[in-house]
Amino acid sequence: MSQQVARVSLRDIQRPVTAELDRVVDELRRIIAADFPIITEANEHLLRMKGKLFRPTLLLLSHQAAGGRDPRAVTLAAVVELIHLATLVHDDSVDHSVLRRGMPTINTLFSHQIAVIMGDYLYSRAIIELVQLDDPEALRVLARVTNEMTVGEMRQLEAHDKLAYGEEQYDQLIRAKTASLLAGACEVGALEADTAHRRALARFGMYLGMAFQITDDLLDYTQPEAVTGKPSGLDLKEHKMTLPLIAALGRMTPTERPRVQELMDTPDPSEETVAEVIALVERSGGLDYARQRALELAQQADAALEVLPSSPARDALRDSIAYAVERRS
Ligand code: IPE
Ligand code: IPE
Ligand code: MG
Ligand code: MG
Repeated sequence: MSQQVARVSLRDIQRPVTAELDRVVDELRRIIAADFPIITEANEHLLRMKGKLFRPTLLLLSHQAAGGRDPRAVTLAAVVELIHLATLVHDDSVDHSVLRRGMPTINTLFSHQIAVIMGDYLYSRAIIELVQLDDPEALRVLARVTNEMTVGEMRQLEAHDKLAYGEEQYDQLIRAKTASLLAGACEVGALEADTAHRRALARFGMYLGMAFQITDDLLDYTQPEAVTGKPSGLDLKEHKMTLPLIAALGRMTPTERPRVQELMDTPDPSEETVAEVIALVERSGGLDYARQRALELAQQADAALEVLPSSPARDALRDSIAYAVERRS
């Protein structure tokens, strides 16, 4: 995970499960199929947007690493991606975002009302599929983490006293809104494994998920939308307190902090104001701090894998940690 190590590609980590991942996309298409025109149109748009399939990758790798051979893992992986997709559709509406995976969001292309309904449509399709799979344990884990994600999104919205927002609160937030689903994906992949392996994979997913979200929060500060496929600087525009800013605030001078307060008090801050605060965060060491914290979590994720027997899938899970913190999109 050090800077000297060659960058790990998504394709590298997906190699042990390439064939299964192709089938995940087919399963996804089957599960969301509708016979109502506007839903069909929204579905087609969503299927054209290509995501990284990181959560299905983790589920399938965990399944392999824990010695599983259940063909239902592909459907479970599609269900996990679908839950993720439903939360993205809602999240973009909540965040007033116009771009996702390099394409217009549902709230932009259609409307906020349609985004609300589509998110529910996708999520309920995932539940129907889970019920049909008749695997109560998978249903239990995924229902729980989906609920945790909603609480995480609410925590974000309810963070009112911006400058007092601390790292502990941030950790709690990213655990709930992001890491819970990655942990759930890893755990569901290993439901047939013994308890020690199942727990280890869930713990791995939790640390990895936190590192993954910190990296996402960094990319919002550092990368242009042409690279991420999402608007850059949106977190500040939306007054979100993420780790780079939380860490930087602790190191700002008494004249610098009011600049951040001003941004937080402006309903629709200008590009210049956002750019100024981004520069301030960088100067104050906020980006470096967040990078360091992501690496710490990455190490904890790595340690969680130690109990698993060595295999190509376990190696790929290891590499997925480096990928999560080094990626640019
Ligand atoms: C985006 O997730 C939402 C976060 C939790 C940061 P991804 O970065 O996995 O998005 P896609 O699925 O590849 O588009
Ligand atoms: C993650 O947070 C959203 C979910 C877990 C649904 P963000 O709001 O930062 O994700 P992006 O940047 O929109 O993908
Ligand atoms: Mg968002
Ligand atoms: Mg983000």
